Amino acid sequence: MQLLKQKVLDEGIVLSNQVLKVDSFLNHQMDPVLMKEMGKEFTRLFDGQNITRVLTIESSGIAPGIMTALELGVPLIFARKQKSLTLRHDIFVEKVFSFTKQETNEITVAKKFIHSGDRVLIIDDFLANGEAAFGLARIVEQAGAEVIGIGIVIEKAFQPGGRLLKEAGYRVESLVRIASLDDGAVSFADPLE
Ligand code: G4P
Repeated sequence: MQLLKQKVLDEGIVLSNQVLKVDSFLNHQMDPVLMKEMGKEFTRLFDGQNITRVLTIESSGIAPGIMTALELGVPLIFARKQKSLTLRHDIFVEKVFSFTKQETNEITVAKKFIHSGDRVLIIDDFLANGEAAFGLARIVEQAGAEVIGIGIVIEKAFQPGGRLLKEAGYRVESLVRIASLDDGAVSFADPLE
């Protein structure tokens, strides 16, 4: 997605060879025009898939998720993160380990919002090791619903998440794929269109 690549080049800050800071348009301040275009692009990529729900995780997945859900005309559900939790019968719970933050969160979704027969598109802002996406997919499967695909805003293709998700059989579509953050510079995996 050319508009997003240009935004990454103009405003992304390479914090290390592992981490890209994009708080001016995605993770803190948010660019609504860009979000709207992302929603259209995910909708185009998953056209004809009869998606019935979009699922993301708080907090930065919510903006691209809601724009995609708006375009598709379906509800958005965001998984909540909690440090610890008393198990309850009316929620789906999965553990998600963050390598970036070195912590485990339990993510939860109320059972009443995803049902057997739902066709779910998972959306998230970053794909690194794939832990969040796998956790969301496990929740969909707990519900007896189907993961139609995983839409990612920024995939760090030098980390294993994309490969692991594809090996597990999921369709992954990333709006931009970053090959490297070495030497303080962003290199895209796919050439600029
Ligand atoms: P994974 O799900 O692919 O395994 O990734 P990981 O656990 O490493 O990611 C943990 C958090 O760090 C996630 O946000 C993810 O979006 C974010 N993250 C990972 N790599 C980068 C990066 O290079 N740049 C930025 N800006 N964020 C990155 P989170 O904790 O869920 O935060 P938020 O959604 O509440 O903002």
